[in-house]
Amino acid sequence: MASPVVIALDGPAASGKGTLAQAIASHYGFAYLDTGSLYRGVAYLLLREGEDPWDEAAAAARRFSLEEIAGADIRTREIGAAASVVAAQPAVRKALLDFQRNFARNPPGGAKGAVLDGRDIGTVVCPDATVKFFVIASPEVRALRRFLELRDEKPGLKEADVLADLMERDARDAGRSDAPMTKAPDAELLDTTHMTIEAAFAAARRVIDGVLQRCEG
Ligand code: DC
Repeated sequence: MASPVVIALDGPAASGKGTLAQAIASHYGFAYLDTGSLYRGVAYLLLREGEDPWDEAAAAARRFSLEEIAGADIRTREIGAAASVVAAQPAVRKALLDFQRNFARNPPGGAKGAVLDGRDIGTVVCPDATVKFFVIASPEVRALRRFLELRDEKPGLKEADVLADLMERDARDAGRSDAPMTKAPDAELLDTTHMTIEAAFAAARRVIDGVLQRCEG
């Protein structure tokens, strides 16, 4: 049996990689894994249990299943920040690695491919991915996108605070020693600063279709 197609999307928060990854998965009928939700899940459970996300031993010990966080609101600013802290801890990354690799090798539901988005998919989790993208956008545009997503829930929220959060998170995610966020040398750079989601998706599809045609031919 042919090995599954693996599409890797990495990049900073609110770069558009999640929306793009879902559109790609749905178009090609591939399974989708938002790997950030795994780190957010660990952070959510630690915070709920009154543990400190900076405490490496507590974070590493907190194994969980996706069912345990089903329905939980893990997309908040606080959990995003705590997820970035737990994600810098090597023991946490190690504990989550097999699940991600297994998803890519055996996409659920018999899908012929998997789409994974995160920070280290093209570099560490799936270095042999069929197609890799590194999705970026200017910090100001990313802050505006995240602000628009969050402002209904948080009426007092300021765009400047969202920008400060993103900058802090980028620095931590790119500066950690274990699996830092970085572009794989063979990843396509996709700058979505001035792109609609439709344009970004069309650009990604051109790259993927080209690679898939070469693989089949
Ligand atoms: O993509 P996100 O904002 O949901 O991710 C939350 C945090 O998880 C992010 O700040 C860094 C971490 N993360 C990671 O280190 N590696 C991944 N593959 C995905 C997320």
